[in-house]
Amino acid sequence: MNVILTKSYEESAQKGAELILNALSQNPALLLGLATGETPVGIYRRICDAYRDGNADFSRASSVNLDEYVGCRAEDSYRRFMDDNLFSNINLPSENITIADHTADPITEVNRLRKFFERRTVDLQLLGIGPNGHIGFNEPDDELEPHVHITPLTKSTMDANAHWFADGVVPERAITMGMGDILRARTILLVVKGESKRAVLRELLNGGKVTTRNPSTFLLLHPDVTLITEESLTV
Ligand code: GLP
Repeated sequence: MNVILTKSYEESAQKGAELILNALSQNPALLLGLATGETPVGIYRRICDAYRDGNADFSRASSVNLDEYVGCRAEDSYRRFMDDNLFSNINLPSENITIADHTADPITEVNRLRKFFERRTVDLQLLGIGPNGHIGFNEPDDELEPHVHITPLTKSTMDANAHWFADGVVPERAITMGMGDILRARTILLVVKGESKRAVLRELLNGGKVTTRNPSTFLLLHPDVTLITEESLTV
């Protein structure tokens, strides 16, 4: 694992955006795996700025999102988050965007996304991490799922994400890429932001063991992972 330690989140976001924009310039038909949450917001802002300034072209690129809530309101959906923070501000063709439809039958959506991953390989997967070590919505458990699936959310995840919901009520289920879908990405960029991630980050950096109790540790099995985080979170 290639670890980049920074002085601030802003520096992490800058480095993360640079890595994504470099990958795009080397492969204009890049398939980007995208994440939601606070962590990627600064990265997406810089990517939008690069597009606005004529320094990035997404016309041949595609994207697939890690996860989406089941049955949430449009304004609380990850689709809306992505539209607001990225898609509305860059020239990624709408037909090249893949994300679970929060209004559709979840089983139909799981099947649609499983077919997508049978055909396509993510070139660069951007990941954040949950305070309990989840990636996407692959929650700590005795077993982890390899493929796209519907998952119940843990109380800790619902609490951590409640601030995104106007009424504070978080859906109890989500659709997420599975661990195998994530680990098949050619390159993975994990960005860790926030004090609440300190313990799971320590396990990932210092433990050296893979455990379903901290799904992020499965990234230790991947040959091309870059982790960007503030140095202060690692001491
Ligand atoms: C959610 C998402 C994850 C994300 C995590 C961290 O649970 N499903 O993909 O990594 O939040 O969020 P934040 O970046 O807001 O800490």
